[in-house]
Amino acid sequence: MQSTLLQIYLFLKIGHVTFMVFWLAGLFMLPRQMIYMLDHAPGSPGEARWAERSAKLRKIILTPSLIVVWVLGLTMAYAMGFFSAGWLHAKLALVLLLSGYHGWLVAQSKKMARGERPLTETRLRVLGEVPGLLLVLIVTLVYLKPF
Ligand code: HEM
Repeated sequence: MQSTLLQIYLFLKIGHVTFMVFWLAGLFMLPRQMIYMLDHAPGSPGEARWAERSAKLRKIILTPSLIVVWVLGLTMAYAMGFFSAGWLHAKLALVLLLSGYHGWLVAQSKKMARGERPLTETRLRVLGEVPGLLLVLIVTLVYLKPF
């Protein structure tokens, strides 16, 4: 099993990185869409249009990408026997944080689709920086493997 996975390792990595980009792109787009939704009154047709776009972003990009990144990442870690490596533990902690942020943001966007306005534009702009910050830390850990 492990040797078969090693033979297709590069393809696993291509999938992992590609879907990681899709996931991050979705996480950058969602707060943007939520800012656009703030321009529309609760219950208005404009709000409904943005709610529909956010739902599509969740179903087509965000949720599938999160699943593929996790599955391929864990498969590669198993293939290479990385589970005892310190850098992977640190990376997993950061990815759990990113996944938690994903879940929380999705919950906020669903609230907005129901007419609630839990976040201001300023907060959404600041939140938009979270995935980029975590990306820098995660990529640094993967390439430097400092511990
Ligand atoms: C979901 C849990 C994840 C696990 C278990 C995981 C695990 C791994 C493993 C084992 C590798 C291979 C390292 C190597 O061959 O040296 C890897 C590569 C990589 N991962 Fe992840 N990863 C996960 C999520 C992420 C996320 C969220 C990002 C970015 C935000 C990311 C970015 C990368 C990058 C850039 C590479 C390097 C590819 C290369 O060697 O060029 N990973 N990951």
